[in-house]
Amino acid sequence: MKKALFAAFIAANVAAAPLAFADAKKGEELFKDKGATKCVVCHAIGKKVVGPDLAGVGKRHTHAWLVKWISDTQGTWTSADPETAELKARVKKQDKPKSAHSTPPISGAQANDIADFLMAQ
Ligand code: HEC
Repeated sequence: MKKALFAAFIAANVAAAPLAFADAKKGEELFKDKGATKCVVCHAIGKKVVGPDLAGVGKRHTHAWLVKWISDTQGTWTSADPETAELKARVKKQDKPKSAHSTPPISGAQANDIADFLMAQ
């Protein structure tokens, strides 16, 4: 019994691991969509455009913060979490009431896919 439970536990975890980032491909397509998300109008991976260079962004941020930022930027900007504070300090905009990051409305599901993609950058 114990052995069977352990086997089930391992199987569940092995199955869950690739699922976590299964939508990174969809996220990449959304990220590169100049019309639907406009991300690439202001960002690139490997150089600064209007917004910060997104190389290494998956090391600077958690998946949860990225989802929140992408789907509710101004709400995130005015919250006091340490990831937002670090970003504001890095771009020297601690005193700005609004972020210059602005996109068409992006759903939570789409933001989740984009965050999957960004976590691998
Ligand atoms: C109009 C330009 C613009 C667009 C479009 C835009 N961003 Fe941004 N983004 C910015 C700016 C500027 C910042 C830095 C915060 C600030 O200066 O207000 C930023 C910050 C970020 C950050 C934090 C980066 C870091 O180094 O911590 C992430 C992640 C991000 N954007 C992802 C995206 C994604 C994903 C999209 C598309 C869904 C997107 N951005 C669309 C301008 C933009």
